[in-house]
Amino acid sequence: MDTYDFRKDFPFFESELNKGLVYFDNAATSQRPLCVSEAVADFYKNSNANPLRGLYDLSVRATDIYETSRAKVAEFVNAESSSEIIFTRNATESLNLVAYSYGMNYVGEGDEIVITAMEHHSNILPWQMVCKAKKARLVWLECGTDGVIPESEWKKKITARTKIVSLAHVSNVFGITNPVKEIASFAHKTGNGGKGAVVVVDGAQSVPHFKVDVRSLGADFLAFSGHKALGPMGIGALYAKKEFLEQMPPFLRGGEMIEYVTREDATYAELPHKFEAGTVNAGGAAGLAAALDYLNKVGFDFIEKNDNELALFIMNGMKQIPHVHIIGNEDPARHSGIITFTVDDVHPHDIASMLSSENIAIRAGHHCAQPLMQKLGVGSTARASVYFYNTKTEAELFLDRLSKVRGWMGL
Ligand SMILES: Cc1ncc(COP(=O)(O)O)c(C=O)c1O
Repeated sequence: MDTYDFRKDFPFFESELNKGLVYFDNAATSQRPLCVSEAVADFYKNSNANPLRGLYDLSVRATDIYETSRAKVAEFVNAESSSEIIFTRNATESLNLVAYSYGMNYVGEGDEIVITAMEHHSNILPWQMVCKAKKARLVWLECGTDGVIPESEWKKKITARTKIVSLAHVSNVFGITNPVKEIASFAHKTGNGGKGAVVVVDGAQSVPHFKVDVRSLGADFLAFSGHKALGPMGIGALYAKKEFLEQMPPFLRGGEMIEYVTREDATYAELPHKFEAGTVNAGGAAGLAAALDYLNKVGFDFIEKNDNELALFIMNGMKQIPHVHIIGNEDPARHSGIITFTVDDVHPHDIASMLSSENIAIRAGHHCAQPLMQKLGVGSTARASVYFYNTKTEAELFLDRLSKVRGWMGL
């Protein structure tokens, strides 16, 4: 099977509305194969009932579909048990769950929370909130312009005062993979007065692109979104080690997450339901399960190979175009298919809209990483991000049109 074979499974590319479209904004959201939309439709067509509530067969079937999906997510990230998987709406909600439920309860005055300079706002704002509320300090790990965080930096800044280390596995701007395993191992030895800091991994950009194994990484928490990994929007997951989930209070309260309620108080349901208040997104979970099956079918060897080949081709092509500057690492294999760039004297928004008139979709803006933009001294940048269904022909077209952008601006 090659890129063209897989591409046939994506009705999006066949749609009259998208004929000829070069979709290079996969870091924002991926497209979905037909099996994913079919799984969602099938749930609503044949098995729709409120899961976890009814005692009739249909509701039991809906519950089975939902729980089977949870087990699939657990296996996908190599969790020890499916009760360590909490369904959320997306990576943002997963990170907020950890901040509200763990951070707000286990971080105190004088403690430190360590994040990196390349975080997405979803992995900054929740920690700013915790630090402000608890009089803790937010510590930033700096990186070079190549996106690399030097070992000396994390060895210096992760200390006995560190309660939490929360970092992107893959940066949505540089595409670089951070050395999470090494950082986690150090944080577990050094943080929290030697008892170990908690390590939170933002897997939004890693889970779709290579095998993420929470146990070998040493992650205590891992957040990701379904929609960047072929799944539906509105379903994501949080992996969390059971020992933490057991000690953490619920994030949201209401139906479904209780064991018993009196006028005064409540006791909570077993894991993972304690963290899933209200009616769940079972249709989304069914779609996510289909997405993970499909990713397994494609295989991460193929995904990584295509990411790297296209990144190499695009970066080499960009280097031939005067006035185009690639942000981040020189090595295309360290980009996870994400190439962020600028063009001299052309605003990134203009680059994106000119390419859009050529039927090419790329991202432009601050990529929800304003502190990184400030550090790099740019207001915004353009970003092309590829996935396994993108082709060299698309990359050629992109490079050709990119080479004309300054000319179109009269430069
Ligand atoms: C690194 C990273 N973290 C978190 C997010 C947030 O993902 P979502 O909007 O699906 O919650 C994104 C989305 O672009 C991301 O790239």
